Amino acid sequence: MAAHRRPRRGDHRAAAIWDDLPAFQQLLRDTAAVARQASEAGDIAGFRAEWDKVAAACTTCHESYVFFDPFAAIN
Ligand code: HEC
Repeated sequence: MAAHRRPRRGDHRAAAIWDDLPAFQQLLRDTAAVARQASEAGDIAGFRAEWDKVAAACTTCHESYVFFDPFAAIN
């Protein structure tokens, strides 16, 4: 298991979240908004274009607050 070791659940939250909680919450709301846009796309091309924004939003928040890249394993 050592090769794929990662912190226990909860251990990789950055203290920066608590330094500016409103900014963190705004990022969360922005991400939810682009996710909703993606869900309302009329076709797969439209969904893909919107999904890129969702993925970028995930990465933006994780880069600022989390020591964990959710896309490292799948991209
Ligand atoms: C507003 C900030 C924010 C956004 C936006 C965000 N995340 Fe996260 N994410 C976090 C934080 C903080 C954690 C760490 C939670 C913890 O350690 O308890 C996390 C953890 C995770 C984890 C790991 C969970 C675990 O148990 O280790 C995954 C997977 C993940 N996020 C996927 C995503 C995906 C996919 C998106 C985009 C759809 C996304 N996140 C958007 C803040 C965010």
